[in-house]
Amino acid sequence: MSEEQTSGDDVVRRTGWVFNNETGNDLTLEQFVATGDAEAGSYLTIRGLRPKCPEDASFVEIGCGIGRMTCAFTREFRRVIACDLDAGFLERCFETVGRFGRIERLQTLRVVDGQTLDLPPNSVDLAFSYITLQHCNDNDALELSAEAVRVTKPGGMIALNYRSRRRLDAFVLPTGALMRQLFRLPLVGSRLARIRWMARLGWQANRLTPDQVVGPLYPLLSEVRVWRNPKSKNRAHRAEIGEFDGINRHHYWVVATVR
Ligand SMILES: C[S@@+](CC[C@H](N)C(=O)[O-])C[C@H]1O[C@@H](n2cnc3c(N)ncnc32)[C@H](O)[C@@H]1O
Repeated sequence: MSEEQTSGDDVVRRTGWVFNNETGNDLTLEQFVATGDAEAGSYLTIRGLRPKCPEDASFVEIGCGIGRMTCAFTREFRRVIACDLDAGFLERCFETVGRFGRIERLQTLRVVDGQTLDLPPNSVDLAFSYITLQHCNDNDALELSAEAVRVTKPGGMIALNYRSRRRLDAFVLPTGALMRQLFRLPLVGSRLARIRWMARLGWQANRLTPDQVVGPLYPLLSEVRVWRNPKSKNRAHRAEIGEFDGINRHHYWVVATVR
């Protein structure tokens, strides 16, 4: 749908809600990027992710979408590799950063198989992902988490966001899987995928626990911390808990240093 639009503003009006939940005919790309600027700044500051010399640092964003937060990252870091499954989103990301970020610092990378980052090991200082790993199947989300660690240099950091399980998910996850089956139907599938409530459900694919994420990666990490909302009941056996009330109650972050 994003590929059918003629301008970035139109993309935001038609598909921007996928990323920041805002709808309306007056939305602009500039306002859209402003939401990403605010979030990127607070995540980097609150979770202590700014390297000592951010201007020299390299950054990988897993699931950049159309560049809502990527613009801010290009203002912070010398090299930003924006990765996404969707080639159309990557083109829009390039355009968004061209208008509101530092395009000379951007490289885009398609995650062709949904789980591998085509980057050398130990090549970036910070690997980041926000509201993406809940939208992949379990295996892809775990593989991408491992990829974040693989591509990060020793001493660098990962900051990865996940959605935790709640009672409603007993309905949401199977219904999401059903929606994705419907989207594959010939003729009607692509029309159904444009219906907002169906798309929102269809994008819900997994609910990993912090232990499922941290467990296999633990030997490769130090200073592992799971950040959650104070009202959240998320537990982690092998990580310290950090609490911050700005985190969505149903989200958590795994933040750690790579050994
Ligand atoms: C809700 S959007 C979030 C985008 C961006 N982080 C933001 O906050 O605006 C989720 C993004 O993850 C991407 N995505 C989903 N599964 C993926 C995968 N397996 N590998 C890479 N990107 C993926 C989608 O294409 C989409 O752009």
